[in-house]
Amino acid sequence: MGAVVSNPAVSQRELWNRQHCERAVNVEDCDLPTQFGKRVASLLCPPDRLLEFGCAAGRDTLHFATVARSVLGCDFSESALTILMSSATRKGLADRVQVKCYDLNEQFRNDTGEPFSVVYTRCSLHVDDETARRLIADISVNLVPGGLLCAEVKSVTDPLFGLGDEVFRNGFVLPDTQGRGHLRRFWSVEELSMLMKDHFRIVASGTTTEFHLGKETHLVHVIAVLRPFAAAPTGHSASENVL
Ligand SMILES: C[S@@+](CC[C@H](N)C(=O)[O-])C[C@H]1O[C@@H](n2cnc3c(N)ncnc32)[C@H](O)[C@@H]1O
Repeated sequence: MGAVVSNPAVSQRELWNRQHCERAVNVEDCDLPTQFGKRVASLLCPPDRLLEFGCAAGRDTLHFATVARSVLGCDFSESALTILMSSATRKGLADRVQVKCYDLNEQFRNDTGEPFSVVYTRCSLHVDDETARRLIADISVNLVPGGLLCAEVKSVTDPLFGLGDEVFRNGFVLPDTQGRGHLRRFWSVEELSMLMKDHFRIVASGTTTEFHLGKETHLVHVIAVLRPFAAAPTGHSASENVL
C-alpha cells in the first residue's frame, strides 16, 4: 500500500476538504439538485425527517429541506458542511437543516433523539464490504418502521472502474488531476441489493448514465423499505416500481 492509502480516512478527508473549497469557487452549478435527489424529494412529505450520508455542499440536502420537516446532512468534510450551512442560511432553510461531521468508517450515532423516515446517500459509499454491512445495520436501527433507504452509487460499468490501485474489493485509488489519490468504490445493482436484503425489501432499482463536470458517469441505485412491513410513513409509496 502506498502513502495515499496507508490511512485512507485521513487522506480522503483532506482530499475532499480541498475539493469542496475549490468547487465552491470554481463550479457554478454545484448547488443544483441531482436527478436521483429530485426523485427522492418527490417521495417526501412535510412530516418526514431525512438523514443524508455524504451530503457534500448540500445540493440535494437543500432540495430535501424544501419539502421535509428536517434534514440532517452528514459528511466527513468540515469544509463541505460549512458551505452547506451558509447556503442553507442564504436560502432561508437553516431552521430545517442540521449537519454532522461523520466518517462512514465509524459507527453512526443519532444524537437527534428521533428516528428518520428516509436515509439517502449518493456517490458516497466509498467503503469496504464490512463497513458497508455495519452502516446498513446502523441505518436500520435509526429508521421508523417502513422507512426508506435510497442509495445511488458508482457502477462497476463506470469508465473509471478498475483504474488505479485496488485497496479493497472493487475499491480503487486513482490519482486525480492534482495527483491526489481519490478512493472510489464501485457496485453492481445485485451487490447493492444483497447488501440491504437482511434489513430491507428492495422496491426499486436501476442504472443510469449521467455527465458530471463533463465526464460520463455510470450509476446504480436502489430504493428499499425497512423490514418488517409496518405501515409506510405518509406520502411514501412502497408499490413504486415493485420488483
Ligand atoms: C462524490 S461526492 C457526492 C456528494 C453528493 N452526495 C452528490 O451526489 O453530489 C462524495 C461525498 O462523500 C464524502 N465522503 C467520502 N468518503 C466519506 C466518508 N468515508 N465518510 C463521510 N463522507 C465521505 C465526501 O466528502 C463528498 O462530500
